[in-house]
Amino acid sequence: MKKIDVSILGCTGTVGQRLIEMVYNHPWFNIVSIAASERSASKKYKEAAVNWHLPMDIPEEIRDMTVVNTDPRETGARLVFSALPSDIAKEVEKNFAEVGCVVASNASAYRMEKDVPLVIPEVNPDHLQLIEVQRENRGWDGYIVTDPNCTTIGLAMVLKPIYDRFGLDTVYVSTMQAISGAGLPGVPGLLITDNIIPYIKDEEKKVMTENLKILGKIKDGEVKFADFKIAVSCNRVPVIDGHTETVFIKTKEPVDVEEAKKVLSEFEGEPQRLNLPSAPKKPVIVRNEEDRPQPRLDRMAGTVPGMSVTVGRVRQGFDENHLLLTLISHNTIRGAAGAVVLNAELLYAKKLL
Ligand SMILES: NC(=O)c1ccc[n+]([C@@H]2O[C@H](COP(=O)([O-])OP(=O)(O)OC[C@H]3O[C@@H](n4cnc5c(N)ncnc54)[C@H](OP(=O)(O)O)[C@@H]3O)[C@@H](O)[C@H]2O)c1
Repeated sequence: MKKIDVSILGCTGTVGQRLIEMVYNHPWFNIVSIAASERSASKKYKEAAVNWHLPMDIPEEIRDMTVVNTDPRETGARLVFSALPSDIAKEVEKNFAEVGCVVASNASAYRMEKDVPLVIPEVNPDHLQLIEVQRENRGWDGYIVTDPNCTTIGLAMVLKPIYDRFGLDTVYVSTMQAISGAGLPGVPGLLITDNIIPYIKDEEKKVMTENLKILGKIKDGEVKFADFKIAVSCNRVPVIDGHTETVFIKTKEPVDVEEAKKVLSEFEGEPQRLNLPSAPKKPVIVRNEEDRPQPRLDRMAGTVPGMSVTVGRVRQGFDENHLLLTLISHNTIRGAAGAVVLNAELLYAKKLL
């Protein structure tokens, strides 16, 4: 097949680098331009990406590409992966969608807008129906599809099969989030080494509202939010990659631990049925050891490294309506770069590109 041209906005950042890693060799997509701020524009990528932080070298194909401005006249591709800071994304992503580009975005700028799909392909692919509503409302030739916050993604993928089988009443979550989640240059070493910071700006609200939107149902052209209660406490910990979440769930129906493990481990969705290139065979991996999951051991789990969520310590709470578990997901792969790539693969498979 002829590959589809793509552009990466925010190419020098934590997520932008992961996007380059995931897309430069992609079977369907071909990077034709890379864009970042005025600080980087006109420089060769190898000079602009001074904080390249991945273990692999910058791919040969990308090293000498010239970084351009985040302007559709300079980027040239119809499909755009955005890894821009949210305040910048608000204006820039609109500029791209207006002129007919499809924007697969990591940024939070449009996630909660009524006519913008917030999609995890295994969980709510039907929310892509909002694309038509969005184009009609806004008169755009293109459109924006967003992926959730990196903490939301792992949680929603685990809540979905539990919600469908047992119903959800209340969910309490406490997170231990990696420092790469803060982007570059990130949290100063002096503040995070030997420490835990019990606050991440705006994060708790994002995790609460995004989960209710993603697990909601589309009715009359909009999302009716899921009706369970959710409370979240977010913490930054000295781990490089991989967000850990301990989750306390009150279900509507009585929940058997073995059956919960079974529904989690058998969970799959459209990406698996369509055999999308970035879809792991098992979106949720259940481990039975008493000391798993752990970020160093489990963040790259699965057939597509970093795209599966690993769950462990699944056990009963106070009574048969309470389930406890711990999950880990890779925040810059499943939680960011891999999420937009999988969204774009789904758009392509559904002939929406
Ligand atoms: N890190 C994660 O785990 C994660 C997970 C999920 C979602 N996200 C979201 O993904 C987005 C990117 O996050 P990140 O962690 O990669 O951030 P980051 O490391 O700070 O990178 C930001 C990128 O945006 C570019 N940029 C900054 N200001 C710009 C401007 N005025 N115009 C054009 N480009 C500009 C930067 O280019 P320069 O190098 O030229 O400044 C850089 O390429 C954010 O919206 C974030 O909330 C991040």
